[in-house]
Amino acid sequence: MSTNTSTSMRILVWDLPTRVFHWLLALSFAGAYVTAESERWRLVHVTLGYTVGGLLVFRLLWGLVGTRHARFASFVRGPAAVLRYLGSLVAGRPEHHTGHNPAGALAIVALLALGAVLVLSGWSIYHDIGGDWLEDLHEGVAGTMLALVGLHVGAVLLSGWLHHENLVRAMVSGRKQGAPQEGIRRAWRVLGVLLLLAVLAFWVQQWRSAPAPAAGAQYSEDYDD
Ligand code: HEM
Repeated sequence: MSTNTSTSMRILVWDLPTRVFHWLLALSFAGAYVTAESERWRLVHVTLGYTVGGLLVFRLLWGLVGTRHARFASFVRGPAAVLRYLGSLVAGRPEHHTGHNPAGALAIVALLALGAVLVLSGWSIYHDIGGDWLEDLHEGVAGTMLALVGLHVGAVLLSGWLHHENLVRAMVSGRKQGAPQEGIRRAWRVLGVLLLLAVLAFWVQQWRSAPAPAAGAQYSEDYDD
């Protein structure tokens, strides 16, 4: 939503569950990407893939019932809003949005959708469902998502520069410049901590359930099919 910044102050925009979701998603995607090719790291890759899946389910629900700026209804906009926002950038008078701007929101929806395809295809491959085409799809979607993440980070930095605001810091602290009535009342700290603990508990359980490598076991370093 656009806001008049003349009365702006630092207000709470991102609740803690949204921030925990974001940084765990970024970490899990990056970790799963770098461990994708090696058999030695397969359990880590699969664990991080499941983590992305769990995070996406959480975000889907939180997008329906969460706080104001986390709700899909508040930031998913049509092409007209995206074009108007991009036009305002070109004109040098960027529209101010307290939550996600319409162009950023488009990238976010695409990242969430690609993430879901990535997890579902990965799960099927791991359970020997589907053929080579699914592996090609999995790899293709991962590459597309990496490119989109690059675009997302570039756009975040550019938009922060245009708006004279550090958006990365805002995703850490939850606070942005805005009119007081645009802020959210609660940070939902307990839910954020529970989300983090649930992911950590899952990682520990996966670690514990990992079979000990047999003495002298050899791993083929590369994924060769
Ligand atoms: C160093 C890497 C990254 C940085 C600095 C970064 C930064 C940010 C920032 C600042 C926002 C809020 C944008 C706004 O103000 O509207 C955001 C949102 C978002 N980012 Fe990233 N991001 C990074 C990596 C990633 C990765 C790897 C993914 C996905 C795999 C991702 C997915 C998202 C999503 C889904 C949102 C929306 C958050 C929500 O509403 O739940 N980001 N990111």
